[in-house]
Amino acid sequence: MESTKVKERIFLSSPHMSDEGYEMQYVKEAFDTNWIAPLGENVNGFERELAEKVGSKAAAALSSGTAAIHLALKAAGVGEGDIVFCPTLTFSATANPIIYQHAIPVFIDSDYETWNMSPVALEQAFERYPDVKAVIVVHLYGLSADMDRLLEICRKHDVAVIEDAAESLGTYYKGRHTGTFGDYGIFSFNGNKIITTSGGGMLVSDNEERIAKARFWATQSRDEARHYQHSELGFNYRMSNVVAGIGRGQLKVLDQRVEKKRYIFEFYKRELGGLEGVEFMPSNEWDEPNYWLSSLTLSGSVRPIDLIEVLEKENIESRPVWKPMHMQPFFEKYDFVGTDVSEKLFENGVCLPSDTKMTDEDLTKVVEIIKGLWRK
Ligand SMILES: Cc1ncc(COP(=O)(O)O)c(C=O)c1O
Repeated sequence: MESTKVKERIFLSSPHMSDEGYEMQYVKEAFDTNWIAPLGENVNGFERELAEKVGSKAAAALSSGTAAIHLALKAAGVGEGDIVFCPTLTFSATANPIIYQHAIPVFIDSDYETWNMSPVALEQAFERYPDVKAVIVVHLYGLSADMDRLLEICRKHDVAVIEDAAESLGTYYKGRHTGTFGDYGIFSFNGNKIITTSGGGMLVSDNEERIAKARFWATQSRDEARHYQHSELGFNYRMSNVVAGIGRGQLKVLDQRVEKKRYIFEFYKRELGGLEGVEFMPSNEWDEPNYWLSSLTLSGSVRPIDLIEVLEKENIESRPVWKPMHMQPFFEKYDFVGTDVSEKLFENGVCLPSDTKMTDEDLTKVVEIIKGLWRK
C-alpha cells in the first residue's frame, strides 16, 4: 500500500519555540493574572531585556517592525514632502512607512561587498539631493551594512539615521549590535524572523524622551487627562502583554538560534561552495552576522528559478533575493541612485531554506537535490 504520510515541508524560516517552554511560562503568568491586555509586566520586561541585549538605552514594544519604522520616521521629524534615502534592495516594509508620512523615498543601490547600502551611491545621492531628512539603512538577511562608512557620510550631512535591523537581531558590526548605531533602530518579530512573537516589533534608541514619545503615539496619543483628550494624531501600535511574553521567552534562545543559523550557513558553504557559478553572500571581517537566511548567487547555467522549482517539487521552500524597490510597480516613479548591483543580486540570488528546526538529514537532502542540478 502506498504511504499516505505527507512529506513535511522544509521552510525558509519558520517559528521555533524554545524546547524549555520559556514562552509559555510568561504567557501563563499573563493569563493567570488576567493581565493579557493592554500592557503589563511582559511588555515592560521585554522592552528592558531587549534593550539590554542589544545595548540600547530605551525600547518601545510595538505591533510590528513596520510600525516601528513608521514611528522612527515620525520621531526623526519626517513629514510631508521630505526626502528619505532608503536601500532599494529590501522588503517593501522598509519603504512603505515613508509613504505613510507623505514623504518621498529615493532608492539607493547596494554594493557586492555587503549586499547593503553602497556608500558610493549614498554620496552620489547626497550630491543630487542635498536636503534630506533621514536615511534608512537595512541589514539585509542578517548581514551588517558598513556602518562606519555610511555614518561618516550621514554625519557630514547632519541627517537622522534609522537602522532597519528587522532581519539582523543577533548581528554585530565591529562588536556592537546592529540597530544601535543610528538615531533609531527597529527589530521585527514577524513569524519568519530569527525569533518571533507571532508578530511584533521594537523601536530602540538612546534617546529615552523620543522613545517615551513613540509609546505615546502608539497608544492613540492620549494626553494626560481623566477624559479622553488628544492634541496629536495617534496610532494603535502597542504590543500586547501576551505577545510580549512570547518575546521574553524567545529572547532567551536567541544565541542558540544564531548558532544554528551559522551552522546551516557553514553546512551549505562547505557542500555547495565548490559548484561552478555559486557564490555565497559576502563575509566581512567586521561583520558577525546572525545568518538569518543563507543566500547565494548563481552565475552559471543553473538559474535561481531552476533551484527554487526543483526544491519546491520536494516540498522545500526557497525564494529569490528581494526584488529591488525601484523595480516595483508601486515605487518605480521614485528616483534611484546607483548602478545595476541590486538588479543583478535580484536576478541571480537565491535564499536557501534556513529554518533552525532543520536536521542534518534535512540539510543533506537539500544539498543533494541542489547538487543534482549540476550533474545534469
Ligand atoms: C527588512 C525588513 N524590514 C521591515 C520588516 C517589517 O517587519 P514586520 O513584518 O514586523 O512589520 C521586515 C519583515 O517583515 C523586513 O524583512
